Amino acid sequence: MNILITGGAGFIGSHVVRLFVDKYPQYHIINVDKLTYAGNLANLKDIENRSNYSFVKADICDIETIYALMEKEQVDGVIHLAAESHVDRSIKDPFTFARTNVMGTLSMLQAAKLYWEKLPEKFEGKRFYHISTDEVYGALELSHPEGIDSEMSAHKVYGDTFFTEDRKYQPHSPYSASKASSDHFVRAFHDTYGLPTIITNCSNNYGPYQFPEKLIPLFINNIRHRKPLPVYGKGENVRDWLYVVDHARAIDTIFHKGAISETYNIGGFNEWKNIDIIKVIIKTVDRLLGRPEGADLDLITYVTDRAGHDLRYAIDSRKLKNELGWEPSLQFEEGIELTVRWYLENEEWVENVTSGEYQRYYEDMYKDR
Ligand code: NAD
Ligand code: DAU
Repeated sequence: MNILITGGAGFIGSHVVRLFVDKYPQYHIINVDKLTYAGNLANLKDIENRSNYSFVKADICDIETIYALMEKEQVDGVIHLAAESHVDRSIKDPFTFARTNVMGTLSMLQAAKLYWEKLPEKFEGKRFYHISTDEVYGALELSHPEGIDSEMSAHKVYGDTFFTEDRKYQPHSPYSASKASSDHFVRAFHDTYGLPTIITNCSNNYGPYQFPEKLIPLFINNIRHRKPLPVYGKGENVRDWLYVVDHARAIDTIFHKGAISETYNIGGFNEWKNIDIIKVIIKTVDRLLGRPEGADLDLITYVTDRAGHDLRYAIDSRKLKNELGWEPSLQFEEGIELTVRWYLENEEWVENVTSGEYQRYYEDMYKDR
C-alpha cells in the first residue's frame, strides 16, 4: 500500500508516521506537511532515512499538487491529520482555521475522489481516514464537581453523560466549528459519491513532540523556568487525556480494521480536572528536577477564562473497544512520567520550536496574561 499521511510533521502525525514506517516496511509512507509553526521535521529525525518513507512539503489546500502527488505515488489510502489545532489561536484568527481545516479537507477529499475514480478498480480497496476531535460535540455538564468513581475513568468522572458516536454536533470555538465542518464534508463525500471514508473523534492527547502552547508541555516548560502557570478561569474544566502513542495505535487499528462510513470515538477513559492535572505536573517536574515536591505550586496564576471555554469533555470509546479490540495501553501515571521526562531531557527541541516565529506570536497572544 502507498499511504499518504497529512500533517505528519506535527505532534500526533509524527507518532503515526513513525508507527507506520516501523511496523509496515512493505508500505510506502508519504508524509505531506506544509511545515507551519506547528510542523517540525526534527520530530521525525529517527526515521527520515528509511527506504519506505518520503516527505513532501505541500499545502493541503493546493489541490493540483495533492492530485499530482496521489497520481505519481499511486496512493491507496489517506490518513488526514493536517490542521490548525490550537483553540486559543482560532479565537484570534478564525479564517486560517476555516481555510486549512475546511477548505484543506475539501481539497483532500476532491483530489482523492478524482484520482481514485479514474482507476479501473475505482474506490475498491481504497480508504480516506479523517482524524477529528471530540470538541465537535460541544461541552458536557459537570454534575460531580469533586468527581466520583466509575468504570468510565481510571481516575474519576465528573458527570453522568459521555460523548457517544451518535451525539449531536454542537461546536463552540472557531477551531471546533471548522473541524465539525470538515467532518460534515467527509460524510457528504461518502453519502454523495461513495468515497470510502472513516472518521474518528479523539480526546486530548499528551506526550512527546507536542508543541509547547498546549497545556501540558507549556506548563512543564514554565515550571522548569519558574515562570507563571496561566490557569484559565478556576481551573475546573475537565478533559479526557490519552497518551499520543495509544492514539497512533488506535489509528493503525481503525485504518486496517474499521468499517467504511463508520465513526469511532477514541478516548483515554481518563478524566481530569485541569487544576488537579496541573498539580500532578508540578509535583512530577519538581521531583525529577530534584526540587522539593510541590515547591512550584506557587507558580499557579489564575487568569481570565478562555472565551467560550468548554466545561467538560469525556469520551465513551466502548464501541472501539468492543468492535475492534482497542484500548489504551498506558496508565496515566506512566504516561505523564514519560512525558515530563521527555520534555526535561529534550530542552533543545523545546528551545528550537519556541524561538522565532512562535516566540513573536506567543508574546503577542499572551502579553496580557
Ligand atoms: P499539530 O498542530 O501539532 O500539527 C498539525 C500539522 O499539520 C503540522 O505539522 C502542520 O505543519 C500541518 N499543517 C497545518 N496546516 C497545513 C496545511 N495547510 N497543509 C499541510 N499541512 C498543514 O496538531 P496535532 O495536535 O498533531 O493534531 C493533528 C490532528 O489531530 C488535527 O486534525 C487535530 O484536529 C486532531 N486532534 C488533535 C488532538 C490533540 O489533542 N492534539 C485531539 C484530537 C484530534
Ligand atoms: O479534545 C481534543 C482537543 O484537545 C484537540 O482537538 C485540540 O487540537 C487540542 O488542542 C486540545 O484542545 P484543548 O483546548 O482542550 O487543549 P489545551 O491544551 O489548549 O487546553 C487544555 C485545557 O487547559 C483547557 O481546558 C484550557 C486549559 N488551559 C490551556 C492553556 C494552554 C489553561 O488553563 N491554561 C493554558 O495556558
